[in-house]
Amino acid sequence: LDNGLGLTPVMGWNSWNKFACGINETLIHSIADALVSTGLRDLGYHYLNLDDCWQLTRDMGSGKIKEDPNKFPSGMKALGDYIHSKGLKYGLYSDAGLMTCQRRPGSLGLETIDAQSYADFGCDYLKYDNCYAFGLKPQKRYEAMRDALNATGRPIFFSMCEWGALDPATWATPIGNSWRTTGDINPTWGSILEILDRNDPLWPYAGPGAWNDPDMLEVGNGNLTVEQQRSHFTLWAIMKAPLILGNDIRTISQESLDIITNKKIIAINQDKLGAQAHSVWTSDEKDTQVWAGPLDEGEFVIVLFNRGDINNVEIAVHWKDIPDFYTDTTTMVLEDLWCDWNTTATGSFTAKVQAHDVVAFRASPTKKSNNLRKNVNLQS
Ligand code: DGJ
Repeated sequence: LDNGLGLTPVMGWNSWNKFACGINETLIHSIADALVSTGLRDLGYHYLNLDDCWQLTRDMGSGKIKEDPNKFPSGMKALGDYIHSKGLKYGLYSDAGLMTCQRRPGSLGLETIDAQSYADFGCDYLKYDNCYAFGLKPQKRYEAMRDALNATGRPIFFSMCEWGALDPATWATPIGNSWRTTGDINPTWGSILEILDRNDPLWPYAGPGAWNDPDMLEVGNGNLTVEQQRSHFTLWAIMKAPLILGNDIRTISQESLDIITNKKIIAINQDKLGAQAHSVWTSDEKDTQVWAGPLDEGEFVIVLFNRGDINNVEIAVHWKDIPDFYTDTTTMVLEDLWCDWNTTATGSFTAKVQAHDVVAFRASPTKKSNNLRKNVNLQS
């Protein structure tokens, strides 16, 4: 959607994965505080997004949406003011049907009234869900809210959550700043792999202002191992997914915090070329993969991914497997994105990768590397 927003993928936090309907003003204030105190805001996690269950009824006279007064006694404008006072952006949620998935009032037919309320609250982001739409064509319902948001004159990022609709990537670009490409994620390795494989082939559709959304991050939730969390975060980042945290950042473990604060990975996600990386080689057993994609100024990201259960598996990347990459005789600088280490390689490179883990590189041709990245130290 060409509204000037989302030129790189959105970064932030959303309430659903961890708290579901258990949200209230006190919780949201403390999350806003934690986004600042953990340093996450200053790394780019700017959006604090409420999901389902903030709303309860409609005003009988004006038809305006009303918040749940027990959960948000100060009202939604005051909540937005608090969030903005912390240097953050404010996200709300509604549904392109008669009710939200948790049976709160939806916006179908009331798009203009609701969009104006969100603008009056100071909202910067709308997630728009797809429950209780009774088979009505999704394009029209999502276009109606896009137009209503646009008419308010307030810049509001439009996050389409049109799960269940057919092939959204093929029609959503002029409607939303991002669109969901799968059903809901959950904090298991199986869910992460399933979503990954569905989002992978959609890479041609992503670009600045219009992103595939493979759902929010589960880093720090459930019993994901540190390797699984690292792979999840790396693969979502290189797919140019929105990096929306879904965990309790007030009590996050140090190892999960270290993952979501990796500046080198965040820089890949926020690269201004905005090209979604994809798998370029998969083993016959489908247990190892090479992922790659172009970055700005002729650089590339390369990820060696061990999907299987065996540790220390050797994975090789061959330059010839990467579309639009350099020739087999080009020597590349490989900057490790998880360790403080660089190397050079010509034609191919092999690394041992732990089970469910990744080895990730930013690759630049040596001839250009001095101009491209002044901080790359060549190892002799
Ligand atoms: C379905 C969406 O896919 C979830 O992310 C969440 O927003 C729930 N609905 C809320 O009911």
